[in-house]
Amino acid sequence: MKEEHKADITGKEIGILVNYHINRQKQEAAIFEEKCQKCHPGKVFLEQNLTSEQARAIIKRMQQKAGNTIEDSDIEIIVRYHVQSHQAALEDNIRAVFNKTAGPKKETQ
Ligand code: HEC
Repeated sequence: MKEEHKADITGKEIGILVNYHINRQKQEAAIFEEKCQKCHPGKVFLEQNLTSEQARAIIKRMQQKAGNTIEDSDIEIIVRYHVQSHQAALEDNIRAVFNKTAGPKKETQ
């Protein structure tokens, strides 16, 4: 017999999960700012088109440059932050291109 699995999530638990997610994103941003942007401010890393493996390799290289300030436990956090931020940057770019070609301000002639 197959057992039915119901997701038993209450409204209160959803609130906790949403908060957890938001807090985690803030934490990731703070770690990135603290550990990376002190040497090179800006979004270059975030906007580069890197796979998780490539991002991880760069972070490990930076870890050596930065001495002990980037810990092993920071690596996966920053990789995840990169993937999310890059996704957001891509979506912004696509929206901008779309608005340029399809927007109401486009001149006819
Ligand atoms: C101690 C200073 C320092 C810290 C901290 C630091 N970097 Fe760098 N980073 C450098 C220097 C210097 C270079 C240029 C020389 C090089 O590429 O080896 C560089 C280059 C880079 C490059 C371009 C080179 C490449 O391989 O593509 C990226 C991307 C980058 N850093 C990302 C990061 C990220 C992400 C972090 C945080 C995890 C970080 N850096 C932390 C000093 C730092």
